[in-house]
Amino acid sequence: MRRQVFMIVAAGMTIISLVWSTPARATNEAAEVAEHLIELVKIGREVVSEHQATINDATKAEKGFTSDFVADQVLERFKKKTKIDLRIPNVVPQANFYLALVEAEREVIDEAQPVINRPGVGFKGFLHAVFARRVGEHFYKKTGVRMKLTGIDYRTTNSKPDEFEQEVLRMFSDPRHPKDQVYARSTVVDGRPVLRMMDPEYTTTACLSCHGAPKGERDITGMKKEGWKEGSLAGAISLILPLK
Ligand code: HEC
Repeated sequence: MRRQVFMIVAAGMTIISLVWSTPARATNEAAEVAEHLIELVKIGREVVSEHQATINDATKAEKGFTSDFVADQVLERFKKKTKIDLRIPNVVPQANFYLALVEAEREVIDEAQPVINRPGVGFKGFLHAVFARRVGEHFYKKTGVRMKLTGIDYRTTNSKPDEFEQEVLRMFSDPRHPKDQVYARSTVVDGRPVLRMMDPEYTTTACLSCHGAPKGERDITGMKKEGWKEGSLAGAISLILPLK
């Protein structure tokens, strides 16, 4: 079988190759890789959000919210969801690629330790979206793959949806779009064939303190609440994976 090897090289950092078995199957395989990468980001954000109260605890210095702790949680939950145990060497062909994302998550948590462990301060500005943005930056440096959190009511320019993302977000917010269904399309970005994937996410009660009603009121972060209601579209994780 002819194998195609695509090297993704970025800014002299780690070189990781994505290997698609044949050009024809590349899109299907890429879709699986994209879904797994998105899953790893989602799980990481979930772990951060679940520990928000610990992170915000002003009475404690060392909080034990370390990169080892987060990586363990991510690997364990990823295994539960996908049956893939990334702790087993080369468990799947793209294992190194997935591990680069876990490594990006570790780096972000490591860098945030002085902030997370600062005593006497409650809210420190470290939360799910900041984590996702930084992980996206680290992962891009390692692999050249772009990943971001976006939404119609974006709060920072980093999350601003591009044209494609706006179109898909509009589709996601249409009640006829089946809930939780990802959208993927092969297309061309900057002259390169890529797979673009977006995974929608919805408002739960846990989001309302910052994103809920009343719209325009300041949340704990000092930003304006969007007035989202439980169950409504919050945004999406968007990934751009090179196909060759
Ligand atoms: C503690 C407050 C807080 C909570 C709780 C929270 N968020 Fe956020 N969220 C933020 C902040 C602050 C940003 C922007 C941060 C940045 O990009 O620097 C953000 C950004 C986002 C974005 C990116 C698009 C945008 O608006 O910029 C999405 C999507 C999002 N949040 C979804 C959620 C969902 C879904 C939940 C619940 C599961 C949730 N958030 C819970 C504070 C919060």
